[in-house]
Amino acid sequence: MSELNLILLGPPGAGKGTQAERLQEDFPLAYVATGDMLRQAVKDETDLGRKAKEYMDRGDLVPDDVIIAVILDRLSEQDTADGFLLDGFPRTDKQAQALDEALKKVDRRLTAALLIHVPEDDIVRRLSGRRVCPNGHTYHVEHQPPKQDDVCDIDGEPLSQREDDREETIRKRLQVYRDQTEPLVEYYDEHDILHRFDGTRSPTEVHDHLRATIATLRMEDEL
Ligand code: AP5
Repeated sequence: MSELNLILLGPPGAGKGTQAERLQEDFPLAYVATGDMLRQAVKDETDLGRKAKEYMDRGDLVPDDVIIAVILDRLSEQDTADGFLLDGFPRTDKQAQALDEALKKVDRRLTAALLIHVPEDDIVRRLSGRRVCPNGHTYHVEHQPPKQDDVCDIDGEPLSQREDDREETIRKRLQVYRDQTEPLVEYYDEHDILHRFDGTRSPTEVHDHLRATIATLRMEDEL
């Protein structure tokens, strides 16, 4: 069986989580979202959550050594053996290198880095209108409203706004993305595994484009 090891790249609010939710229905990949894992750890008040909270609340990245250990540990679990979809990792040069080295040690490699591009002005509008349920389902007050105000269509849970979706913190997260994560676009381009997607299109159009690309990658891998 072919193995697809994918990462979703893009600025905060590009639609990585929205697309990951759809792609999981198309492809049997283990979904690993660092933001969701960290928010759960904050909620559960674990050691990791206590360490991560102050960074997340001000829009900074959690230190590399903390997040690298968590993700490499997660990727050693059995459900990722047939492929994974990483959302939110890597986000720095050091994280990208740690991931490459860890995969190389077990004779695996990344299949593709899927970059969803959205201009910054759209991102501020998107994130200030985002609403999420406690189980991670995502809505937008204008573009993707729930059927009933502030209630999740899927599990009936109340919707809320994320702590880091305030305008000032959004701008900080964008700056952190530009400084620390955007250089990875060139890194994966040089490794010849970068694929670009126009994230300003509707969620369905972005999904169609991503799904077609991943299906082609899977076919090429099987040849
Ligand atoms: P994380 O949760 O990963 O946040 P992020 O990367 O900032 O991404 P978001 O979840 O904000 O956006 P998204 O691209 O998933 O967009 P979404 O689909 O929700 O990380 C949070 C924090 O954790 C970080 O700031 C950091 O502190 C820490 N962290 C995480 N990983 C780390 C790492 N590796 N190293 C160190 N620290 C780390 O969509 C956004 C909105 O837009 C929604 O309302 C949605 O409905 C709407 N939307 C989506 N697609 C479209 C579309 N096509 N058209 C119109 N609206 C759309």
